Amino acid sequence: MRIVVTGASGFLGRLLVGALLRAGAFGGEPISRLVLVDRVTWPDDSQGAGVPVQVVRGELLENLDNVFAEPVDVLFHLAAAVSAECEADFELGMRANVDATRGLLEAARAQSREGGPVVRMLFASSVAVYGSHPALPLPPAVSESTVPVPRSSYGTQKLMCEHLIADCTRRGFIDGRVVRLMTVAVRPGRPNAAASGFLSGIVREPLAGLPAVCPVDPGLKVALSSPRRTVVGILRVAEVERGTGPGRLDGPLPVNLPALTVSVADMLATLRQVAGDTVADRVAVAPDPAVEAIVGSWPAVFDHQRAAALGLGPDPSFLSVLQDYLTDHPARSPPRWTDRRHTWGRARARRENAGSTITPDDRHHAHGGESPP
Ligand SMILES: NC(=O)c1ccc[n+]([C@@H]2O[C@H](COP(=O)([O-])OP(=O)(O)OC[C@H]3O[C@@H](n4cnc5c(N)ncnc54)[C@H](O)[C@@H]3O)[C@@H](O)[C@H]2O)c1
Repeated sequence: MRIVVTGASGFLGRLLVGALLRAGAFGGEPISRLVLVDRVTWPDDSQGAGVPVQVVRGELLENLDNVFAEPVDVLFHLAAAVSAECEADFELGMRANVDATRGLLEAARAQSREGGPVVRMLFASSVAVYGSHPALPLPPAVSESTVPVPRSSYGTQKLMCEHLIADCTRRGFIDGRVVRLMTVAVRPGRPNAAASGFLSGIVREPLAGLPAVCPVDPGLKVALSSPRRTVVGILRVAEVERGTGPGRLDGPLPVNLPALTVSVADMLATLRQVAGDTVADRVAVAPDPAVEAIVGSWPAVFDHQRAAALGLGPDPSFLSVLQDYLTDHPARSPPRWTDRRHTWGRARARRENAGSTITPDDRHHAHGGESPP
C-alpha cells in the first residue's frame, strides 16, 4: 500500500506521518511506501522506521508526476495556505488550496481511468467553512447538516474543495473523505499565519517566558481540539469502511471532528491555575477587529453525533489539553508542573500497554509535534 501525505512537514502532517510509521499499516494492510510531500524540508528523523519513506520536496502542483509515478492507494491531503494568509493574499489561497487540490483530483482521476486503484483521499477541511451571516444565523449547535456560509477566503476555498471531492467521489473517480478540523491547540513551535494562531500563542508564549497578545474579547467561545485527538480523528475517518450503522462512514457528508467548547477567558484562567500569576500575566488583551471578524464568525458549539458514531469524542476539558501540551513539551512546563509529569507518564504507559491498537499518544509522540521553522 503506497500512501501519500501532502503538507507532511507541517504541524499535523508530522504527527500523522509519525502515527503511520509507528503503525506500519493502514486499515489492516502493511504500508509498502510512505510518500511525504512538502515545500519545506522533511526532518529526516523518521527515515529507517521500518516503512520505506520517499520525500518529495517542492510545490505540490509541480510534483504531481513524482507523486503519481507509482500507484497511489491512500492520499492524505493536508497541504494548505492558512486563514490569515489567504485573507491577505487571495491568489495565494486559490493556488495553494483550490488549484493544488484540483491538481491532485485530476491526477487521481487519471490513475483510476487508466485502470489503477481508486485513491482513498482524506481532505483536511476546517471549521472555517461555517460562518454566521445575518440572513442565515448559525443554530445553537452546528452539525454537518448546517449550511456552511464561510466568512473568509480560506473557508470558501476549503468548501470549494469539499464540493469537488464529493462530486469526484459520487462519480467514482476517488473515494473521498472530508474531516473538518476544529482549531488545533496547543500548537508548538513558532506562531503561524492562522487567524486562530493566538489560541495557541496565549498559552505557548507565556509558558516560554514571552509576552502574548489576546486579540479577541476573552468572552469569545471557541471550538478546540488537541493535536492528539485531531490526528486520531483524521486516521479514523480515513480508515473506516463505508456503509450504514455504527462504526461505518455513512453518506457523502464531511465529518466535523469533535470540539471542546471553551471561552478564551476559561483558557486563560486554566493557564493561571496551572502555571501561576507570573506566567498568566504575560498575556495582554488587545482586541483586533480583523482577527475578531474571522475567528468570531466560526461556530463554537457542535453536535457531535456523526463523529461519535465513529467512536470519536472531544477533549474533556481545556485542563486536559494543557496537560497534553505540557507532557509532550516538558521544557515549556512550569516547575510545579514538571513534578507531576511522572504521574501522567505512568498513566500514559498504562494506556499504551492496555491494547495493541494505536493510541492517541502513539500517534502524537512519534515526532514531538514541533512545527517546522
Ligand atoms: N492546525 C489547525 O488548527 C487546523 C484547523 C483547521 C484545519 N486545518 C487544516 O489542516 C491541514 C494541516 O494543518 P497544519 O496546522 O498542519 O498546517 P501547517 O501550516 O503546519 O502545515 C501545512 C504544510 O503544507 C505545506 N504546503 C502548503 N502548501 C503547499 C504546496 N502548495 N506545496 C507543497 N507544500 C505545501 C507547508 O509547507 C506546510 O509544511 C491544513 O489543510 C489546514 O488547513 C488545520
